[in-house]
Amino acid sequence: MSGGIRFDSVTVAYGRNTVLDAFDLTVEPGEVMALLGPSGSGKTTALRAVAGFVRPVSGRVFLGDRDVTALPPHRRGIGMVVQQYALFPHLRVEDNVAFGLRAQKAPKGEIPGRVAEALEQTGMAAYAKRYPRELSGGQQQRVAIARALAIRPKVLLLDEPLSALDARLRSEMLAELARLHRELPDVSILYVTHDQVEALTLADRIAVMDQARLQDCGTPQELYRRPRTEFTASFVGNANLLPVTVGSGGASFEGAELRLDTGGVLPGAAATLCVRPHLVGLGDGPNALRGRIAEVQWRGATHRLYVEVGAAGHRVKADVRELRETPALGDEVTLHFAPEDAVLLGAGVADG
Ligand SMILES: Nc1ncnc2c1ncn2[C@@H]1O[C@H](COP(=O)(O)OP(=O)(O)O)[C@@H](O)[C@H]1O
Ligand SMILES: [Mg+2]
Repeated sequence: MSGGIRFDSVTVAYGRNTVLDAFDLTVEPGEVMALLGPSGSGKTTALRAVAGFVRPVSGRVFLGDRDVTALPPHRRGIGMVVQQYALFPHLRVEDNVAFGLRAQKAPKGEIPGRVAEALEQTGMAAYAKRYPRELSGGQQQRVAIARALAIRPKVLLLDEPLSALDARLRSEMLAELARLHRELPDVSILYVTHDQVEALTLADRIAVMDQARLQDCGTPQELYRRPRTEFTASFVGNANLLPVTVGSGGASFEGAELRLDTGGVLPGAAATLCVRPHLVGLGDGPNALRGRIAEVQWRGATHRLYVEVGAAGHRVKADVRELRETPALGDEVTLHFAPEDAVLLGAGVADG
């Protein structure tokens, strides 16, 4: 069987409420696709449509070239891990991991070897005889991953698998998942998260969701450097979004004339300029903006400056290397950014 996942215009509704709206997405064999979006945007629903726990009202779901839309969950051969581990409390670790194999009626003689292999892959071999209550949260999540891997799935679905863990464990497990993916290069992974750091670190591509719809899809670098919408710009990374009027070869913002690539937008159009805070510098330079310091935050290696620019008091964020002397509130400062670091978004801006 070939791998990969394909949503073909999948719509899911609860009663009259459409929670997944004509969703199209292809996950290639061996690819990690993050589904990134705010709470309630339909991420879990999309995952459950692949697993077979919800039935679309229209559209098809394919695994490889097989249409599985009508297939029950246990016949789809998918591994799934959810936020709350969902281990069986009365079963030892090894029996939890064997569960999917027994349900699949795998040959009895094969089960111990497959269980040992999955526990090895997740670093849990020493814990086979324990019960879930005798494990930490992170260990329980490893067992849940081992259970999903034991059936040797071509498709692995992970629904916010790290969100119940504390920050340090989360970043450790993130590195573990990246390693697992390298060891299982043929497995397609659909990884649901509302955390952009997880998506940026782990995913080959990110599908951005909002309000039941796919908003954007691309590599982390594409979405970060060239977002197509304000939603993507502010959800993937931090963004300054400034209302501008397009001119020829630039745009004006609060009386300042800025140079940037207008991508063929007609002069006079209203648009939004996006520039990342770490690409905004303090001091004079091209595309200078004058304003007053409204807030200063020390973040260790950097200072985050909030500068109010223009009569309307738009706040521009700048992340600059830690300053020896921090400016005082109300100080007048100049910020700048390079023309190539600005992206125009919004009405009349051509895609691509
Ligand atoms: N079983 C259900 N019955 C009714 N509404 C549901 C059900 N599951 C999810 N929803 C609704 O569908 C929408 C999307 O939910 P979900 O896919 O869980 O979003 P996400 O995972 O992005 O937070 C939400 O508005 C949620 O309240
Ligand atoms: Mg969810």
